[in-house]
Amino acid sequence: MGEAPVTGNVRKLIDDPSFPNQWQVKGEHLGHKLLWKDGESKEYGVHGTMVGTDFDICIADGICITVCPTNVFDRMDIPSEQEKMDKGTPNDSGKALLAIWKADPAREQDCIFCRACEIQCPVQAIKITEP
Ligand code: F3S
Ligand code: F3S
Ligand code: ZN
Repeated sequence: MGEAPVTGNVRKLIDDPSFPNQWQVKGEHLGHKLLWKDGESKEYGVHGTMVGTDFDICIADGICITVCPTNVFDRMDIPSEQEKMDKGTPNDSGKALLAIWKADPAREQDCIFCRACEIQCPVQAIKITEP
């Protein structure tokens, strides 16, 4: 597999001023919300509100899990993504291929807003919003 193609649809959750307040609530997962924006979200949308993690952008880099001092994230496997990865489908940031797991902010209520995850995520999939 060669370099990931860069598409025209490059986006970053961190740069979206409408997140989270103007995004639709589509459901809940393990006590955090699932948020969605028509025309932006493609398939999974964003898990979490304070620690919003865009599953359509996440490439399973994992640095967020490593650096979080309060263990907010869990790795969440999505095996059905494998087929898309095999085809070389890029993520919504256009920077890299999709991944078969995502960082789920399972304990976002434990976040102390250090922003280490937000700063270090290579594709800006995370946006921190203090309540
Ligand atoms: Fe952890 Fe990110 Fe909050 S690193 S403490 S989830 S700002
Ligand atoms: Fe995903 Fe970024 Fe974490 S790519 S695994 S949200 S560091
Ligand atoms: Zn979740």
